[in-house]
Amino acid sequence: MKHFLSLADLTSEELQGLLDLALELKAAWRAGGNAPLLQGKVLGEIFQKPSLRTRVSFDVSMLQLGGHAIYLSPNEIKLGQRESVADVARVISRYVNVIMARVFSHTDIVELAAHATVPVINGLSDYNHPCQGAADFLTILEHKGSFQGKKLTFLGDGNNVSTSLLFGAAKLGMDFAIGMPRGYELHPAVWQLGERFAAASGATILATNDPLEAIAGADVVYTDAWASMGQEAEAAKRRQIFPPYRIDSEILAHAQEDVSVMHCLPAHRGEEITDAVADGPHSVLFDQAENRLHAQKAILVQLLGAK
Ligand code: CP
Ligand code: NVA
Repeated sequence: MKHFLSLADLTSEELQGLLDLALELKAAWRAGGNAPLLQGKVLGEIFQKPSLRTRVSFDVSMLQLGGHAIYLSPNEIKLGQRESVADVARVISRYVNVIMARVFSHTDIVELAAHATVPVINGLSDYNHPCQGAADFLTILEHKGSFQGKKLTFLGDGNNVSTSLLFGAAKLGMDFAIGMPRGYELHPAVWQLGERFAAASGATILATNDPLEAIAGADVVYTDAWASMGQEAEAAKRRQIFPPYRIDSEILAHAQEDVSVMHCLPAHRGEEITDAVADGPHSVLFDQAENRLHAQKAILVQLLGAK
């Protein structure tokens, strides 16, 4: 791995290997602490959008591996405004060992990676959210034991998070279904990639506008905000369209009895997920949030060749 921009760029073996490394680092952390694998290494964090999980889990990942992180807020860098994305990449590469960036446009991440001389990690773009995906499949592995023969259902927007879930599931051989309102589907090019990965792994994938068809028999049910960061102006309109895709106790009854419920967070309680489900016995929301730490440690260690 040179950069970490999309789960689509990893082979199934690389993704599985990343999860194995995350499990190993998590076990070491639980047993008392990680070895200082990233001693003397510095991560530069470029943010164009707000964050709780991504910012704190990357900071703590570096700290617990013996390295250091520098947070750069949207106001400091003004990526592409104060200076070009390419120049930011060239300059910051002279100071840090690895870059993580959260951007609006995915083309900015691609441009950063093209001009950086150190590895670049996508901390969320409008296209996908691969760090979240890595943490999510780690969580699924822990709660379900395996991917093959299990079904992951996403209900809601065909967005960055559902794109990474499609790529990850299709690579790992997990069946994937997505229920999305008409007009809010995954991009056809994303779906075609998913089909290609699924054909290679043997996973089945299904896209539908019918939430009940999508959720039937699911082992894992996942949702995300109806309006993502940057889509605030559309939030009111989306609140009229998306309610049939809300995860509440009623719709959850169509999944497996031992279903796990996931959400990348932040949750808009009462919109895409009810309190009863988010705080109920099936919820693994906060295991997922914790796993950002372990998955990202694995990404950092692998990119920096520290193991
Ligand atoms: N899930 C996630 O990426 O959360 P933040 O936006 O808080 O980083
Ligand atoms: N789809 C959401 C994910 C937030 C972590 C967004 O892009 O805002």
